[in-house]
Amino acid sequence: MVKRGLLLYSGGLDTSVILKMLQEKLGIDVVTLTLDIGQEENDLAAIADKAWKLGAADVITKNVKQEFSNGYIAKDILADGLYDGVYPLSTSIARPLMSLEAVNAAEQFDCDLVVHGCTGKGNDQVRFEVSIKALKDGIDVIAPVRDWGLNRDDEMEYAHANGIPVKLGGKYSTDENLWGRSVEGSDLEDPRKPIPEDAYSWITPPGKTGSDAVDLEITFLGGLPREINGKQMSLEKIVMLLNKIAGEAGYGAIDHLEDRVTGIKSREFYECPAAMTILTAHKSLERMTLSKEEVSMKNILDTKWSDMTYNGLWYDPLMEHINAFEKSVNSFVSGKVFLRLKGGNLTVMGMESSNSLYNYEKSTYGKMDTFNQSYAKGFVEIYGMQTVNTSRTRKKSAAGLISTL
Ligand code: ARG
Repeated sequence: MVKRGLLLYSGGLDTSVILKMLQEKLGIDVVTLTLDIGQEENDLAAIADKAWKLGAADVITKNVKQEFSNGYIAKDILADGLYDGVYPLSTSIARPLMSLEAVNAAEQFDCDLVVHGCTGKGNDQVRFEVSIKALKDGIDVIAPVRDWGLNRDDEMEYAHANGIPVKLGGKYSTDENLWGRSVEGSDLEDPRKPIPEDAYSWITPPGKTGSDAVDLEITFLGGLPREINGKQMSLEKIVMLLNKIAGEAGYGAIDHLEDRVTGIKSREFYECPAAMTILTAHKSLERMTLSKEEVSMKNILDTKWSDMTYNGLWYDPLMEHINAFEKSVNSFVSGKVFLRLKGGNLTVMGMESSNSLYNYEKSTYGKMDTFNQSYAKGFVEIYGMQTVNTSRTRKKSAAGLISTL
């Protein structure tokens, strides 16, 4: 017998209906947990008030923006986290934090069931359930929208019948936090059509940006941004500021036909101005401060990190090993990156670092050149020996090689 349920509560239609139904259908006490991760709808007091009115046995609200910045966004930056090379995992990295908070609250309030509002089609059910179960042995997790087959019409009807105030949301399904805004559904579902202007909220839509350039200087220390235009700020503040500056400049929109964990291909639109700005600058600085071999291994582990994060495996022990590598290799990624935002584009204008591996005397074609070119002839001879020998042995002529293609 379940004693109490801990509900991840946003205050929207789904989770409000679930809050009532849990009491009615399962006859259990429900504790609600609402987190401020930087979403627009962050009036925690109003959401808490709604939860009390809908019969919650206890109501928890918490601002976790700082935890999210330092423990989740920071890791994404170190790992250059981009799913499919384009999506900075903004929704994906919030779920492990929400799961951790849910497990902690469940323990504190003596709940043996965690309830979330996901459907059965998306990635978030996977992220919540794998994370919660990895964090706490024996805890039950349910998703009433999925498990009880709830649909929007029935939910609306139930809400009206039970006096649940319904605030009609926009036409898209959205999810927001400091690291980005995800948009799905409605007009986005036709991949032949461009992203409609009404899907934009954080970013000035294409063609509407001014023509002025905005110059930015980001200082990184150990792989993380520390200063904007010479002013030291917390990561949380940096992300908020860059969302505003780059968003206004029309930068950071991503139109992605995405492969979900559940096998569905879905058209997603993301607005991630700060994330894309920071990740672009960070990647550039890595080019300057890391060796060829470090970059090569980092690319492999970054892709693995991004896939595992997307796929809900944040708490898999392998992630600890990858994060340890990312932290260690990033200890050299310090310096300044100079950027220009203009007309919806971001350009890296230049960079400098006291850890720079760029060696002027070795790379210049000018008179300061110290590279000994006389060694190169022998180097190329030995370096290419295997390839030259193998192809000579197997193909008698260039004509023969071409005909086998
Ligand atoms: N597809 C993205 C992800 O899985 C975002 C999903 C966000 N949900 C939404 N209702 N828009 O990380």
